[in-house]
Amino acid sequence: MSPGKTYTLITGASGGIGFELAVLMASKGHHLILTARSEEKLTNIARQLAKNHNIEAISIPADLSVEKERTQLINTIREKKLHIEILVNNAGFGDLGPFETSNWDKNHQMIDLNITALAHLTREFLPDMRKAKSGKIMNVASVASFMPGPLMSVYYASKAFVLSFGEAIATEIQGSGVTLTTLCPGPVDTGFQKRAEFREPALMKMMKPATATELAEYGYKSMMNGKRLAIHGMMNRFLIFTIRFYPRSFVTRLIMRLHQ
Ligand SMILES: NC(=O)c1ccc[n+]([C@@H]2O[C@H](COP(=O)([O-])OP(=O)(O)OC[C@H]3O[C@@H](n4cnc5c(N)ncnc54)[C@H](OP(=O)(O)O)[C@@H]3O)[C@@H](O)[C@H]2O)c1
Repeated sequence: MSPGKTYTLITGASGGIGFELAVLMASKGHHLILTARSEEKLTNIARQLAKNHNIEAISIPADLSVEKERTQLINTIREKKLHIEILVNNAGFGDLGPFETSNWDKNHQMIDLNITALAHLTREFLPDMRKAKSGKIMNVASVASFMPGPLMSVYYASKAFVLSFGEAIATEIQGSGVTLTTLCPGPVDTGFQKRAEFREPALMKMMKPATATELAEYGYKSMMNGKRLAIHGMMNRFLIFTIRFYPRSFVTRLIMRLHQ
């Protein structure tokens, strides 16, 4: 590795928004470290991006919901002396259905991925960025961060953590040369819906989903501009602005209807 070379670590880079961010950032000349569980997919993506864009792209497969695998990822990065200048905490998933009949292991894994892994990687790489007085972190939250989500209760609550955590850290590091952007997408057409076991809920019929490419472009621009909070789309910004004027019990019932 040549001295002074810096890398962008993208979690959940094997598909959806994370993949599109990897493609976009490679086209802008960023060297990449890509992680997700699907080893073969990641290896092929890294090889293609390195070849097409003349960058370095390293794939390190890991199940980030497992502490031991996160530690292995961190150790590999440390052993190879790769300096992370940009961290994109994107990997995450949801699950649709009543909490009382939900699969506990799936909930546990969701909390470990959406919350613990995001906080762990931020804690690991933020001090190096502070020392270098330069760096960027982007955490992928959601419009769901702003309200309780009946029938996706754990997911919405996990995204509320991402928003609260991100805004707090962004304030702690203000003026340090490091910025933290919390990206809040509305519905996006990716593998997310299939994994969450969506079967055409009203929400997906009502709102035209954005594409992962649109989200990647918006997220990248917001992060590079050091924006703290990046809510994608006029409709989503309008929704988040207006719900604060309604009783929370009304909003919560409305979200339940949208998930049915
Ligand atoms: N799509 C939407 O409507 C929407 C809306 C708001 C927010 N978001 C958020 O956007 C982010 C990206 O989601 P997406 O829509 O792009 O979903 P996606 O297409 O399902 O992609 C999720 C990515 O996360 C990886 N991943 C899943 N579990 C993992 C684990 N245990 N360890 C490591 N990597 C894991 C997946 O790869 P492997 O399967 O290979 O591990 C994949 O690369 C998530 O945080 C999601 O909550 C999505």
